[in-house]
Amino acid sequence: MEDFLRLERVSKVYEPNIKALDEITFSVAKGEFVFITGPSGSGKSTLLNLIFRAEKPTSGEIYFEGRPLSSFSRKEIPYLRRKIGFVFQDFKLLENRSVFENIALSLEIQGVPEGEIRHRVLRLIKRLGLSGKEAQPVRQLSGGEKQRVALARAVINRPRLLLADEPTGNLDARRTEEVMEIFEDLNAEGTTIILATHDEALFVDRHRRVLVLDEGRLLNP
Ligand SMILES: Nc1ncnc2c1ncn2[C@@H]1O[C@H](COP(=O)(O)OP(=O)(O)OP(=O)(O)O)[C@@H](O)[C@H]1O
Ligand SMILES: [Mg+2]
Repeated sequence: MEDFLRLERVSKVYEPNIKALDEITFSVAKGEFVFITGPSGSGKSTLLNLIFRAEKPTSGEIYFEGRPLSSFSRKEIPYLRRKIGFVFQDFKLLENRSVFENIALSLEIQGVPEGEIRHRVLRLIKRLGLSGKEAQPVRQLSGGEKQRVALARAVINRPRLLLADEPTGNLDARRTEEVMEIFEDLNAEGTTIILATHDEALFVDRHRRVLVLDEGRLLNP
């Protein structure tokens, strides 16, 4: 059977000569929960950005559900992105829109009926401990609240693959544990997860595969 996700000798060079990723090869099976770690600047965000096709590799190929990402036309990319959720390190939320609007946006674009949108968004808001904040503009939220809205927006679509870039970076210990439980639940429901973090506390004792990046190289493929 083909791999759910496969990277083959993927490199990314930023001009003039920054090798952000150097010949990265690995596969992720459907249903896996994989951590990517490594020091600041080791290439974690770059790797996730390439899988999301926010950027293209300088060389090498990435296959998602057997199909090379380089074969997706610009018009097809929104369809790819519906299958892949992304929790961005810097959130990328619409600051002047409400919590509800930020989470609901992708469902509205897909024409999901209003009642169903309300039901799904409010249920997720509750699950993430954001009840009462639905009408609040995102710019008025704390860093930890924004982080949870970013997670909600990434998973409202029920993506097959969830990419999360330091998704607990702004959370205190209790919220971190809660958010990690949500990741575990999503994984148990069948979502494949790749979570990038420099924080070892997130993956010790979790018995998951941990890929270690150092200066753009994978130390344990
Ligand atoms: N758009 C860009 N243009 C030029 N260089 C970049 C760009 N994006 C990343 N880099 C460089 O690529 C390398 C890897 O960066 P990346 O953001 O992937 O690291 P990271 O592991 O996510 O770090 P952090 O833990 O600080 O988030 C760094 O040297 C960075 O400066
Ligand atoms: Mg990063």
